[in-house]
Amino acid sequence: MKYVKVINKHAQTLKRFLESNGLLDVSRKVAKDGEYVLFPVKKEFKQNFDFNISFEDLNTDFNRKKSYDELLREKLGSKADLVRHSFDVVGSIAVLEIPKEIDEYSKLIGEIFLKTHNNIRTVVKKVGGHKGEFRIQNFEVIAGENNLETVYVENGCRFKLDISKVYFSPRLGTERLRIASQVKDGESVLVMFSGYSPYPITILKHSNPSKVFAVELNPEAHKYALINKKLNHIGDELSLINGDVVVEVPKLVESYGKFDRILMPLPKTGNSFLKTAFKAVKPRGIIHFYYFLKEEEIPSKGWEIINSEAEKYKKSIKRIGHTICGQVGKRLYRVCFDFRVE
Ligand SMILES: C[S@@+](CC[C@H](N)C(=O)[O-])C[C@H]1O[C@@H](n2cnc3c(N)ncnc32)[C@H](O)[C@@H]1O
Repeated sequence: MKYVKVINKHAQTLKRFLESNGLLDVSRKVAKDGEYVLFPVKKEFKQNFDFNISFEDLNTDFNRKKSYDELLREKLGSKADLVRHSFDVVGSIAVLEIPKEIDEYSKLIGEIFLKTHNNIRTVVKKVGGHKGEFRIQNFEVIAGENNLETVYVENGCRFKLDISKVYFSPRLGTERLRIASQVKDGESVLVMFSGYSPYPITILKHSNPSKVFAVELNPEAHKYALINKKLNHIGDELSLINGDVVVEVPKLVESYGKFDRILMPLPKTGNSFLKTAFKAVKPRGIIHFYYFLKEEEIPSKGWEIINSEAEKYKKSIKRIGHTICGQVGKRLYRVCFDFRVE
């Protein structure tokens, strides 16, 4: 690519000459090199000026936007090595994890991210881990709009949520589809700990159960579940209940009956709710139980927990299998155990 190079103070004179003679290549960008300006030209030409010009053939494409990595390296130098390259995108929001050692550069990293990623309007960094009963994560906006509500698409379903008010994990899409694909026609399904309803809605969009009940404690998550039910044009086949599963599930069993399938997506403390699930599942019904396990505990510890709870409530279980559905820490995994209650 041909450029004509001139010292700054004569750049305007040269530019006028190039323009009036149709020599300037307007499809390319003018570049700077210290005290020189490089004009993109269509071809070399002969002209006597009272200042010096030179022609250069450059392979550099000054039109190309610099990448995230290039800009990080330019602005942070060797500290760019500490920036994590994995991040989550939820609708128009990007969620970054920024290590302590480069925390002071958070805003700069956020700005660079925003500049180099189309469709992202807000960049946040995680602050701490998931907390409390509602399993909520704190965030700090480091670039872009101060708006934590967004809509994202997963498995053909649309979900609205505020990432600071409800639990969310955009990495569970494959797992939700795996469960949905097992649901048989006409089944009754109970989703405990249903959040903003990603599991119930995925199931109803991809399978044909007779009825899905969803129970969630966090009123904000329940509010978004109601919005998402409408957003996905779902009717009476989904009942959303805002409350504690320990209180609400026995009431459902009394008014509706037991369930063919129960989902338990609360991996941190789900074991203390197995009793509620065992009492609500039909004979030969299926339970999907999520739990966090260290690498060396997979799957034995999960089955031990399930068996010991089953014994307490005089149930026997038949293992279907286990699925590792995400790493959540160093050598720590989210595992789903699928089993039939005999
Ligand atoms: C790990 S999140 C999963 C949410 C949702 N299923 C998803 O995949 O995004 C667990 C959810 O369980 C809810 N929760 C915790 N304890 C509960 C209880 N006793 N009864 C009902 N929901 C509960 C929390 O508020 C949280 O939304």
